[in-house]
Amino acid sequence: MASSPDDLKARLHGLLSEFQAKIERAHTEQELRKVFADYGGSQGAIRVAQKDALKEAPNAEKKAIGQLSNAVVAEVERALEGRLAALHEAERRRDLERTVDVSLPGRVRRLGHLHPTTLVRREIEQIFAQLGFTVAEGPQIETDFHNFEALAMPKDHPARDMQDTFYIEGEPELVLRTHTSPVQIRTMLSGPPPIRIIAPGPVYRKDDDPTHSPMFNQVEGLCVDEGITFADLKGVLLHFAKRFFGEEWGVRLRPSFFPFTEPSAEIDFTCAFCAGSGCRTCKGSGWIEIGGAGMVDPEVFAHVGYDPERYTGFAFGWGLDRMAMLRYHIDDIKLFFDGDVRFARQFK
Ligand code: PHE
Repeated sequence: MASSPDDLKARLHGLLSEFQAKIERAHTEQELRKVFADYGGSQGAIRVAQKDALKEAPNAEKKAIGQLSNAVVAEVERALEGRLAALHEAERRRDLERTVDVSLPGRVRRLGHLHPTTLVRREIEQIFAQLGFTVAEGPQIETDFHNFEALAMPKDHPARDMQDTFYIEGEPELVLRTHTSPVQIRTMLSGPPPIRIIAPGPVYRKDDDPTHSPMFNQVEGLCVDEGITFADLKGVLLHFAKRFFGEEWGVRLRPSFFPFTEPSAEIDFTCAFCAGSGCRTCKGSGWIEIGGAGMVDPEVFAHVGYDPERYTGFAFGWGLDRMAMLRYHIDDIKLFFDGDVRFARQFK
């Protein structure tokens, strides 16, 4: 053990050169301060050596030992300051040398993009607005009454099976609306004819395959007044087809059944993929089925308190996403719900 000031001097000298070697290798302020603590700190190697020397030294030498240790600590501190200054200077120089090329183009912040369904919805709203239709909305969680009952589908009606329904747990009277037709009921309950509305929005069915999604969008149309006929329905749909797809587009109505319309029809539009010449998508027919329509059933009028002897009306409903698929020639409805902006960005 070091016991004389000379032994201590040798030991401290060794520590000092160790210290200097280590701070040369330290390249961050944090590393430097750690090395300093190991040697010059109050628990550092220098103070430990000092304590050892004091333990065995005669009183006469204690003062010298203290002075010697303090001097070495002071030297270590100076060395630390020197290295820190050099480090900061190097950093400053690096900052100064970092050049900025002000002629480089800025970073473009990509904005979001309207979804194809939104684009098509707006366009449809516009076309119908010019015919005097206003936009109506309803809740997505509907009552059994609005979604079924008032649309002439009582509880045990087989037509309910056409739309595999999501019920709200513990709430037998609430469903996720299976179509936008309940907005017909809400609109008619809110006031007397004349009525001309379209109602776009999400609907839900237990369906899930490449052409069906459990959530999709529909648009509903309803027109009620005195003297409305099936010819008005066909005229409005034809006008729409020509405005939306093009002058050479046509509409075909095929007999069908819906509980809330009588007579009822399936709506076909000229196939958008082949413009009617026949292709794989339309299975060679030149027509694409897009939705349903018909004259409002008097039973529905009874539910909303309209006089069926005085008023008649037509209604139609179709898939909004399907319309966008036709418009933009997209064959997988899943793309609509992935939320990938690279998809949305492609549509003008
Ligand atoms: N609601 C029907 C459906 O979702 C479509 C429809 C609307 C039919 C209006 C007739 C009248 O299948």
